[in-house]
Amino acid sequence: MKGLFVLCLIFVIASPCLCQNYFNVVKYGAKGDGHTDDSNAFTNAWQDVCGSTRDTPTLIIPEGQNFMLQPLSFQGPCKSTTISVKIMGTITAPQSNANWKWDDNDGDYWIKFSNINGLIINGGGTVDGQGDSWWNNNGHIRPTALKILECDNLKLGPLKHINSPRNHISIVGCNDALISNLHIIAPKDSPNTDGIDISTSTNISVQHSIISTGDDCIAINNGTEFIYITDIQCGPGHGISVGSLGKDGDYSTVEEIHVSNITFRETTNGARIKTWTGGSGYARKITYEDIIVFKVENPVIIDQQYDALEPLKTKYNVLEGVSKAVKVSDVIFRNIRGTTNGKDAIDLNCARIGCTNIILEDIDIVDLDGKKASASCNSVQGSCSSCNPQVSCL
Ligand SMILES: *[C@@H]1O[C@H](CO)[C@@H](O)[C@H](O)[C@H]1NC(C)=O
Ligand SMILES: *[C@@H]1O[C@H](CO)[C@@H](O)[C@H](O)[C@H]1NC(C)=O
Ligand SMILES: *[C@@H]1O[C@H](CO)[C@@H](O)[C@H](O)[C@H]1NC(C)=O
Repeated sequence: MKGLFVLCLIFVIASPCLCQNYFNVVKYGAKGDGHTDDSNAFTNAWQDVCGSTRDTPTLIIPEGQNFMLQPLSFQGPCKSTTISVKIMGTITAPQSNANWKWDDNDGDYWIKFSNINGLIINGGGTVDGQGDSWWNNNGHIRPTALKILECDNLKLGPLKHINSPRNHISIVGCNDALISNLHIIAPKDSPNTDGIDISTSTNISVQHSIISTGDDCIAINNGTEFIYITDIQCGPGHGISVGSLGKDGDYSTVEEIHVSNITFRETTNGARIKTWTGGSGYARKITYEDIIVFKVENPVIIDQQYDALEPLKTKYNVLEGVSKAVKVSDVIFRNIRGTTNGKDAIDLNCARIGCTNIILEDIDIVDLDGKKASASCNSVQGSCSSCNPQVSCL
């Protein structure tokens, strides 16, 4: 009792100075009524947050209110070494894409954070990309809802994120990030609505999240290394993918990717590596392990000619010697179990330049009737121990 009293006293004495670290968007004139444009209030509050020299200045987006924002960029560098953005209420994009105002934004994002080290975005509120009016509008470049660029030591989540016009979250050029407790949802037929895309980044952890969208739950793209993904419930969607890499002849590099403890439910793919014909570079040291699949079309898949349609694939197979592709090697698929509703439970297509040291262990995938599933493979060097289905070329 006495301890509690002392604690309260300390809190009361300390709170005025704590409060000064808080910058509430409502105090800057934000209405939070769901339709008034609150962009200016957020921009003004951000100037103060970013300019503050206090410990962890915090942008407060209060609970129970809905703040409509036009495309907006939060830029650093900031004065404090950590900056917090607490989204407790909802931020929402304009309802119709006809009402988006682009300013000098090149149209590729709705909300962008750039050059802010020690950025913490959490609060458990909702980010609503209002993607509906965009999804049928394929001629237009559709924006990423949340783009985070060059932010070292990022902490993202808990947060709910719904209905991005295109991919929900893009992480570009960030090192040492911890992304956790996200709940990302978009309809399963919404186009290109990846959950999280990561590129040009090192040491990124993604944990304890639920992702249900119309495209990849997580895509690991060029220039990434030491990416740790664990405890994700993925589906519907297209699975967790390394790539696509090597488009338009690009040089691409990905290595040290560790994906574990994943449930894929009614996804088109599970553990996937995809590269385009004509690229170069490598995707190596990739582990997918401790994975459950429910009704997944391609639970384990490497596709070294992601672009090629069936007739073209056949043609490329014939054109030996002119092959160019991203080198795929040192890959482990371990302890993957469950059911498939697709043609091949394991599909390893390395027909372009071959894949080396591809290790499969403890795979047990059956069709929906509990019967044996099939596997296919082409130009793969490696091994398969305790594999159901058996992979003929290993
Ligand atoms: C990786 O990032 C985490 C923060 O998420 C940090 O604590 C850790 O020290 C980093 N590891 C290395 C090797 O830099
Ligand atoms: C891919 O990333 C690597 C390493 O960061 C970089 O050298 C290369 O230019 C990138 N490729 C493309 C096409 O951006
Ligand atoms: C694995 O994932 C499940 C559910 O997604 C979670 O309950 C469990 O704690 C995770 N285990 C580890 C070791 O992360």
